[in-house]
Amino acid sequence: PQGSTVAELADLLGVPANDIIKRLFLLGTPLTVTESMSDDLIELVADDLGREIKIMTKEEENSFSFYDDPKDLKPRPPVVTVMGHVDHGKTSLLDAIRHTGVAAGEAGGITQAIGASQVQINGRTITFIDTPGHETFTAMRARGAKVTDIVILIVAADDGVMPQTIESINHAKAAEVPIIVAVNKIDKPGADPTRVRQELTEYGIIPEEWGGQNMFVDISAKKKLGIDDLLEAVLLEADVLELKANPDTFASGNVLEAKLDRGRGSVATLLVNRGTLRVGDAIVAGMSYGKIRAMIDSRGNNVKEAAPSTPVEVLGLQSVPMAGDEFRVFQDEREARSLADERALKARIEEQNKVKHVTLENLFDTM
Ligand code: GTP
Ligand code: MG
Repeated sequence: PQGSTVAELADLLGVPANDIIKRLFLLGTPLTVTESMSDDLIELVADDLGREIKIMTKEEENSFSFYDDPKDLKPRPPVVTVMGHVDHGKTSLLDAIRHTGVAAGEAGGITQAIGASQVQINGRTITFIDTPGHETFTAMRARGAKVTDIVILIVAADDGVMPQTIESINHAKAAEVPIIVAVNKIDKPGADPTRVRQELTEYGIIPEEWGGQNMFVDISAKKKLGIDDLLEAVLLEADVLELKANPDTFASGNVLEAKLDRGRGSVATLLVNRGTLRVGDAIVAGMSYGKIRAMIDSRGNNVKEAAPSTPVEVLGLQSVPMAGDEFRVFQDEREARSLADERALKARIEEQNKVKHVTLENLFDTM
């Protein structure tokens, strides 16, 4: 689109923003990620990157533009990721939360049909992403995907800060999202929630009650203690963030996970960030494309559409995309297909280039 910023162009071309900044610098036009580029500059950079692009007219732009008129923005649910060290109670917490939603008698009979779920708390929706291990999160970050709004860092009170706790903190900090600490297992005899607080100060995670920025909630996922307080903290944090998205545009978002199912073919769990995803939409997700044949929500129901912050399982992609890939709806399937093909071709060329660089010296490293 005309007047795209460096960040938008990077996103569009699927290259790191730094690559573009470097090129702009070499072209004698130093710009920062948030600055917009002239049409000529956009063409020049794209050309430099070996990509042919077309600067679109106003009408065409609507399907691509990342710019939303503030009046089109509507509140959307927070997307929350629970992270923490192995066995510190991530799954137990999610179980307890789902139960809370059900027990409160609100619309939220949650199943684990997909790796993400939505719960209703006091009439408000929260999306929880269930990332098994940190690989998915790392992959998403590597692709520049910002999928989560809030991180719940879970730390077992009888164990304290452990290696993956620190990893989780680093992930959350890199993603620049607020961290709410859930000090878990407070029912256990050796539990020492104060020690957890002390240990975390070393990593810049300081409780609000100590003058810091982080909300801490003591919980027991097993005994279901403090769960409501934790959810309240999440909603409070979400209020501060004033999360919004434009639901009335072509959908885009990220692939949370994807697999090949014997009967159903390629099955991808997508998280919609913007716009509304609909059955029948032509989409590109990374190197795969397809027309959405069916969508299943986190309760296992078939749905026709998915609004921002909604995770859905999608059928109809021709191949299996990667976790963290961005997806985007296109006006027609042909357009979608050609972009996916172009990406696949580029990946193949890169792969071949890698092979070419194998020499006797590095042969054994690559094996
Ligand atoms: P991984 O998925 O392996 O990383 O573990 P996790 O973080 O999901 O932990 P999980 O929920 O599986 O809990 C690990 C163990 O801790 C299980 O045996 C739980 O029953 C136990 N546990 C979790 N929360 C609590 C708690 O609040 N109190 C007590 N006493 N045990 C808990
Ligand atoms: Mg688990």
